[in-house]
This record gives sequence, structure tokens and C-alpha cells, in this order.
Amino acid sequence: MLSKKTKLRSVKDPGVSHASTYSKRYFREDVPKHVMPENSMPARAAYQLVHDELNLDGNPTLNMASFVTTWMEPEAHQIVEENIEKNFIDHDEYPQTEEIEKRCVDMLARLYNAPIGKTAVGTSTVGSSEAIILGLLAHKWSWKKRRQDEGKPIDKPNLVMGADVHVCWEKFCRYFDVEPRIVPMEPDDYVMSAERARPFIDENTICVGAICGTTFTGQNDPVRDINDMLLEFRKNKGWDIPIHIDAASGGFIAPFVYPDLEWDFRLEQVRSINTSGHKFGLTYPGLGWLIFRDEDDLPEELIFHVNYLGGEMPTFTLNFSRGSSMVLAQYYNFLRLGKAGYRHIMSNIIDNARYLSDKLVETGRFELLNGTQLLPIVAVKQVKKENYTVFDISRKLSERGWIVPAYTLPPNAQETAILRMVCKENFSRDLAELLASDIIDACEWFERGKTGKVTELSRRHHHQGEHQHLHRAC
Ligand SMILES: Cc1ncc(COP(=O)(O)O)c(C=O)c1O
Repeated sequence: MLSKKTKLRSVKDPGVSHASTYSKRYFREDVPKHVMPENSMPARAAYQLVHDELNLDGNPTLNMASFVTTWMEPEAHQIVEENIEKNFIDHDEYPQTEEIEKRCVDMLARLYNAPIGKTAVGTSTVGSSEAIILGLLAHKWSWKKRRQDEGKPIDKPNLVMGADVHVCWEKFCRYFDVEPRIVPMEPDDYVMSAERARPFIDENTICVGAICGTTFTGQNDPVRDINDMLLEFRKNKGWDIPIHIDAASGGFIAPFVYPDLEWDFRLEQVRSINTSGHKFGLTYPGLGWLIFRDEDDLPEELIFHVNYLGGEMPTFTLNFSRGSSMVLAQYYNFLRLGKAGYRHIMSNIIDNARYLSDKLVETGRFELLNGTQLLPIVAVKQVKKENYTVFDISRKLSERGWIVPAYTLPPNAQETAILRMVCKENFSRDLAELLASDIIDACEWFERGKTGKVTELSRRHHHQGEHQHLHRAC
């Protein structure tokens, strides 16, 4: 989040401070909060101050809002800590780290069925957002070059995507001057169908975005239908429009649990795919991956060459410096788990998600939105209007420490308010049982007509907060 500055006052009046705590055991003077302290303090004191304040953060294990990994094995922690001081971009100094990144890219390209005989290329990124932005940038450049070669105008590029996209897609459009063409949802259909996308596509479409596991309901856009439609455009109109697949979450589930589902490079128009290592890739934040079907899909002009042991090392990223640890943690996971390990974990969390959704549906109070979901996500709406809403339930659950977002869907499904829970590896069957029973208790509490029902004002406040939370906590 972009942080706003506190209204600045004179240095003599440093604003709110940490009043001395621990009975002056650690601090003799107040510690200012918004002005850098004039003097140093002992390491233990600084640690205690930061540590204590963070107790007010939520408990990551109970965070059902986020897709991002909240648990890794101790051996993974060891790899992370042993390499935490290495800047990933220093290929000259850390050539083996760079080699390991390449191996991960190769493994993912094969996992996503990159065609034999082509040269798939890819890179690690800070997350899926950076990977999506880079992928779309490549498609914008390819479109521009094609148009220039044909002597056609290049001033009106557009990007076609469903209203189920993550906010980073719209961010790309705004930052890189591309018209967003957003195919609305329908009240009972929360993905982008090929037929609804068709009228939005024209010769200026740089790319069509399709999601493998949407942020909202965990469902899949029908990639095969979209691919067939674009092949038809290519044949009839000569427009070669690529598909970028946003597999931020689905990229580590579909290959293992649904190997026959065709969503990846098996489909001809799928030219690039992103996934988040830090979601179901099972590493901590921040790690994403971007893979191109073939080196021809990445325009040469976007590749920068940095000096590498006297030779040239190509890079394609937005940021220069970043940590190495998560790339290495990803490689650790690949070796440690193998395909069988990922399949086992993903099947297990999908079972836990089904268990939780069955428990909620059988109360008669909730309806599942995403019976066809790919991801271990439980998205439910209330069956009928009650004297309480999903926002009230979300609020009530927070008293037990659960972080369960409630929000309304994007247009034209904005009348639908849902509770959405992402089940991760450390969300055990036991926790699923506890959450189900806490949700039922919350409903019963409201149904008994207890006072203390959250007010309309706090409901609205909460609703807005959760909406932002959804985008932030993905
Ligand atoms: C479908 C989808 N795309 C993109 C993103 C953004 O990913 P990241 O947080 O890795 O940048 C998310 C985050 O949840 C997502 O669900």
C-alpha cells in the first residue's frame, strides 16, 4: 500500500511516541514513531519494540484471505536463511543461484507442456503481478512490430480480459497505455466465456487474458474455447492474437491434480503463462514465474544484457536487485516434493476445502458458488436474506482470530456478496472442522437475535476494508 505521510510537525514535536515500556528496563526515554531517533538503542530493545508491535498483526495460520504460503519446512527455512544476504541479480558473484533459476524455468516449461522443438524461455519475478506485466509488455511489443511491418497504426492497443482478472491486469493497462476491455461477469457466471469475449476483440487486441484459478471464486476461464475462437480469427481475419494465462494459483494445481485439463502450451495460441511460486508453489513471498512458449514470443528489444563473468547475461525483469532465497526455496521444493509430493499436497488441500464447503452447505444456510472450481477455495453466498450478512459473519469470526474476507463480486455480479476461504497446506482437517463450527456458531449467534450485531456503519467500513484486503492479500 502506498503510505501517506503523517502531517509533519517540527522536529521538536516528534508526534506520537512509544512511551517507555517494560518499566524503563529497556528505554529511559520515549521512542519517537515518525522521526528517526537521535541515538541508538541496544539490539535487544529494538527487537522487543518491533516484535511487540507486530503482535497486533493477524495470525498467518488463520489467514483464509491470502493465497500466499504461510508455512514451509525447517530445511527450507535453513536454505532461506543461509542465502538471505545474496542479491539475486549478482550473477557474476552467485552463478550457481542463477543456474538454479534456469533449472526451475526448464522444469516449469516442461510441466506446462512447452512444445518439443521450440525454445521456451522464462524468468523468475517478485510475484505474478510482475510476471503478468512483463508478459503483456512482450505481447504489446510483438503487436506493435507486426502492425509497423504492415504499415498500420499503432496508437490504439487494447487488452481483452474478464472482470475476473486480478487488479494487476488493469494496472498494466494504465501504466503502459493500453485500453482495458473488460468482459463483465453475469449474475450466475463468474468467468469469461469465449462468446462473451468475442465482440471485444479486434485487430488492435494485443492479447486475450485467461485465468486459471480466479482470485474471486477459484474457477477457470474456458481456455480451450478461447483458443478455438482465436484460431478462427487467425484463419478468417489474419489476426494472430496470443493468450496470456494467469495461472497465479492454478499453475501449481492443474498439472498435478487435473493433468488432462488443457489450459497450457498444449493450446496453440497460449504464448505465455505466469504462476506464483509463493502461492501453491509453496514458497514464502515474493516469487513469481513467467514462461514463454518460444523465444520468438519475447521481443529481443526487451531483453537487457548484463555483464556475466566476462560474457553477456540476458535479463527481463522490472526490478534490478532482489533476494535469492525464494528462488532457492522453490528449487528445494521441486527436489523435495517432486510431482508426487505436489500431487499429494494439492489433493489433500482440495479434500479439506470440499470438507469445509460440505459442512457449510449442509447447514442449509449457504450455497456454493464454485462447484466447478479448480482451486481449494470455498466461496459461498447466503441461501436467503437473513437478519445478518456475510460481512457480519466475517466480523464475528475475527473475534476468534479467523481472517475470512467477505466481498461483493465485480460487475455484473455486484449483487452477490460472498465469503471466500483459501485452504492452504497448513489448514488441516482439524482446522477445517473448527472453522466450520465457528461459522455455524456465528450464524446461530445472530439468529438468536443477540444484541451487538455489527452496525450498518461498521458493516460498510468493514466491507470496504475487506475489498481492499482482497486485492492486497492475494
Ligand atoms: C489470479 C491472480 N493473478 C494475479 C495475482 C497477483 O499475484 P502476486 O500477488 O503474486 O503478484 C493474484 C493474487 O492473488 C491472483 O489470484
